[in-house]
Amino acid sequence: MRDRLQTADGTADRDETTDYETVSVPVLVVGAGAAGARVAISLADAGVEPLVIGKSDHGDAHTTWAAGGINAALGSLDPEDDWTVHAADTLDEGHYINDPEAVELTAKHMPDRIRELADWGMPFDRTDAGEINQRYFGAQSFRRTCFVGDRTGEAILDALVAKAQDMEIPYRDNVMVTRLLTDGERVAGAMGFDMESGEFVCFRSDHVVLAAGGSSALYERHSSREDENNADGPALALGAGARLMDIEFVQFHPTGMVGARYGEEWDGRLVTEAVRGEGGRLLNADGERFMEEYSPDQMELDARDVVARAIAQEIREGRGTDNGGVYLDISHREDQYIRDRLPSMVERFDSLGVDITEEPMEVAPTAHYTMGGVDIDFSTGETGVDGLYAVGETVAGVHGANRLGGNSLAETVAIGKLVGEHVAGQVDADAAPALTDGQRALAEREFRSLAALEASDGDVTARELLADLGEILWEHAGILRDEASLKQGLAELDALRERTADLRIEGDRTSRDFEFAVDLSFSLPIAEAILRGALERSESRGAHYRTDYPETDGDWQRNIVASEEPTGLELRTRGVAEPSPEVQDAVDTGYELDYHHLE
Ligand code: FUM
Repeated sequence: MRDRLQTADGTADRDETTDYETVSVPVLVVGAGAAGARVAISLADAGVEPLVIGKSDHGDAHTTWAAGGINAALGSLDPEDDWTVHAADTLDEGHYINDPEAVELTAKHMPDRIRELADWGMPFDRTDAGEINQRYFGAQSFRRTCFVGDRTGEAILDALVAKAQDMEIPYRDNVMVTRLLTDGERVAGAMGFDMESGEFVCFRSDHVVLAAGGSSALYERHSSREDENNADGPALALGAGARLMDIEFVQFHPTGMVGARYGEEWDGRLVTEAVRGEGGRLLNADGERFMEEYSPDQMELDARDVVARAIAQEIREGRGTDNGGVYLDISHREDQYIRDRLPSMVERFDSLGVDITEEPMEVAPTAHYTMGGVDIDFSTGETGVDGLYAVGETVAGVHGANRLGGNSLAETVAIGKLVGEHVAGQVDADAAPALTDGQRALAEREFRSLAALEASDGDVTARELLADLGEILWEHAGILRDEASLKQGLAELDALRERTADLRIEGDRTSRDFEFAVDLSFSLPIAEAILRGALERSESRGAHYRTDYPETDGDWQRNIVASEEPTGLELRTRGVAEPSPEVQDAVDTGYELDYHHLE
């Protein structure tokens, strides 16, 4: 992090004795969702015992909110599908700025990862013939999305956690990492605090894997819980000298719940794409099936960016509901079919007094996923900073300018396995490195800074500042962007940064307020990177739509790479590699979903 928040009394370095616990491990995995768990299983398989740490209770990571499915070209229902078509669909949806190596590794390895998950007890839905069942998902040429009803993420994490427990992989929950321990050359561990006891902890490890999620919760309306996807992963990496890539690409999922109808605590929460994959129809307040206008061939199952922009346009032009959404209706399907395929949706809406087998849901776009993140080498997870690796939503590359639904879970296990194997090969399995005097001094400096943050007694809470930051991003770096608005967003961000000098923490280090203050320190540099990247990219591509540059520009088939330099955030561009000939063939064949199969 460039700057710990300025504290109210400006004494971030005051001399105060800080006790802390030291934990020394061969590999530290930060993040306990599917990506972190799969890395850990690979490490343990190779005889290396990692420590996995997470911010919440074991088994309750953000992965549990991934609902509709996970992609693998098994061809259970559509035998024409194969991994090259999966890769081609991913590149096409990513508008060809994905890292082709990342895409191909994911698509190629997924069939094995699905069979492995099934072997580990994941209860995939099955066809009558006993094959793993597959459903349609947006912008995919074939039925490729494997599922467990609409609780696929929860089922994956259950299977991975059970496997990790079987392997006796050590885990520590309710720990928040605030900064990586680095001497500027290589990473030597991580510092943070126990969120239950408040105790400071210094993890000493020569190998740190960041699997700490993305940044979509920075937006006012988002699909995550409030303590997830607050930019921890990318901000920690950036602060340690790693590069970010494609950070301007934020996915707005078309169908988030509408708070004005269902209660603010539900605002933005996901209504799974599986509803549309099972035939759900979008209707405006006039009862018109408006996707006929925007995408007559792919209809509701066009790419997420297309459907999200269509819904936003309907609402903007006055054809939305009084609550600010549109309708999503699956009630034309058989009652029992809906209950079998979408049990969580049925249950959740039922608890809100809505029977989705009989009536439509009200939905509107919500920030859901960050395609951008840490710039890594995909066969190793290396970030360019010695000893630091990253994986999962923390990184960029697989999804390019927009992500296919079902590919986020795929990336976690496909790339997670490979990264774990690579890191295992770098590690002295018995290493329990000690802190050097220099590292001890860095740790103590960080803990003094956190203690000073805790003592902040100004007038504004981190929760208020995060809410204002969310509005800035939603307003200025949202579904539609333009130069004037992005510049305005940057000016507002500067003003918000100033206000952090007046922060007030209510409670101690175990309080939500303190956690939010640390989140704020992660959020500011990443929000700046999103706004600056979006300003730099003077074209429209995938999820990045510039009303002042509405066309995709071939010269912009490049990635924007950001790094933290002494003068501040620096952006430059980099060309994209070519896919392999076999994947290029699949791209050239031009496979496309024929939506009308669903009718
Ligand atoms: O809509 C969904 O079920 C989300 C899936 C995903 O983002 O991959």
